[in-house]
Amino acid sequence: MKEISVPLVLCVFVMTVARGQVRYSIPEEMTKGSLVGNIVQDLGLDVKRLKSGRARIFTEDSREYIGLNVDKGTLVVKERIDREELCAQVSPCSLHFQIILENPMELHRIDVEILDINDHAPVFARKEIDFQISELALPGARFSLDSAQDPDTGTNALKSYMLNPTDNFDLKVLSRNDGSKYVEMVLQVPLDRETQEEHKLTLTAFDGGSPQKTGTVRISVMVIDANDNAPVFSLPVYRVSLLENSPNGAVVIKVSSTDNDQGANGEIAYSFSRSSGKALDLFHIDTKTGEITVKGDLDYERAKQFELNIDATDKGGLTDSSKVEIDIIDVNDNPPVISVISFSNPIPEDAAPETVIAMLNVKDLDSGKNGQVKCSIATDLPFKLKSSEQNFYSLITDQILDREKMSEYNITIAAIDEGSPSFSTNKTLTLKISDVNDNAPVFQRQSYTAYVMENNSPGVSVLSVKAHDKDSGNNARISYFLEDILVNGVSASTFISVNAESGEILAVRSFDYEQTK
Ligand SMILES: *[C@@H]1O[C@H](CO)[C@@H](O)[C@H](O)[C@H]1NC(C)=O
Ligand SMILES: *[C@@H]1O[C@H](CO)[C@@H](O)[C@H](O)[C@H]1NC(C)=O
Repeated sequence: MKEISVPLVLCVFVMTVARGQVRYSIPEEMTKGSLVGNIVQDLGLDVKRLKSGRARIFTEDSREYIGLNVDKGTLVVKERIDREELCAQVSPCSLHFQIILENPMELHRIDVEILDINDHAPVFARKEIDFQISELALPGARFSLDSAQDPDTGTNALKSYMLNPTDNFDLKVLSRNDGSKYVEMVLQVPLDRETQEEHKLTLTAFDGGSPQKTGTVRISVMVIDANDNAPVFSLPVYRVSLLENSPNGAVVIKVSSTDNDQGANGEIAYSFSRSSGKALDLFHIDTKTGEITVKGDLDYERAKQFELNIDATDKGGLTDSSKVEIDIIDVNDNPPVISVISFSNPIPEDAAPETVIAMLNVKDLDSGKNGQVKCSIATDLPFKLKSSEQNFYSLITDQILDREKMSEYNITIAAIDEGSPSFSTNKTLTLKISDVNDNAPVFQRQSYTAYVMENNSPGVSVLSVKAHDKDSGNNARISYFLEDILVNGVSASTFISVNAESGEILAVRSFDYEQTK
């Protein structure tokens, strides 16, 4: 492609004569060796002159894109010529160099305009543009987009943009004062995070080349939540049963609520409302998780039900309320307790049957079956328990007692509740049977016989008698007396005496065999 310019004498150099100026136009990116122009023709030079004049190219920057074929008198591409590298956005883009000839010195200026080819597509600096746009953004809100760059010029340069889809946004192309263009995305239809959280769009840049080249950038629009949703508890009332012996930290229930909002607006804090009263001391709610745990000592016997009012509050201040009803389940955690109200101890052995020995009260703090108590005593004892009224028992004699047979009883009262497993309590009363003088002394033998030598000295011991008494104490203490009967018309006491304490029988006087045998 050559174009011969009109030769003009523009300036006169001291030692040289500019004889002409040749202008060529070539597209960029021609292969090496491609013909740029024929200077023999265009400058009116012949090949001999070129050789004798040692024709060569002179460039100011010493970079030779174009070379001179002296043999043929042609200019050819010597190095790859990239218009964009050479001139960037400067247009037109030309290479300027001189052809120097010596003997005589000749300078010929050559201009080679490098024509753009559409070798570049529009390019966006980023692959993706991220936006976070509040769902409260109003139609007309503008969001500036990246501009694409296309190094090509002219018709090959960037020409237009397109946005897709355009459900919510339109594209607006604007011009800066310097003529450069930029694009904006303009909100048309309000965003609703709850409907669509993320919008993915594509911005395409087109150049005007033929064939047309394009560049794209992804646009991600995250819709930022506006706190337009209140938390909602999963249930209006949570019901739960809880064993009264649940330890501290035991999980009662985990309440949950959902908030369709995102981020802080969807972050829910759980709390007990102040109206929960005394339950606040016994339960704890995890602000973050909604998990309710036991904090204090539950006692079915003190409180059988709790009602906790709970709030779920999001950071935007919107709340929902619910409540948790806790039924405390009685656990058989209390053994029966036997209290002795009165205890007659000892009782005389002659106490009549059904004599009251003790009054008992039995208590069990548990409820229901766990608190129902049965009392009993061993059946082989001469006693029985009689229930006078609820939880009150009398321990009474059931038989005639005999201290001499059994002077003491260990009476174990067993109280057992009906829980499962059950608790039992034993209480042992040691009952002493007091003596009644119901036994007469009994001699070891019905009769005693003793022999004494006559002429005995008075006071000699004749024999000892012994009586026993099954009773105890004074009732068993024995004194011996001589029944004053007549022996041969004479009082027996004139013959013998008895030691009241020991039962030793002594001669009172000296006996005479001939008088009394
Ligand atoms: C009653 O129990 C006490 C103490 O366990 C014991 O010393 C005593 O021998 C028991 N009495 C009877 C009659 O079992
Ligand atoms: C009470 O006594 C009964 C039998 O006498 C026994 O089986 C039970 O284990 C005792 N209970 C306690 C708490 O000692």
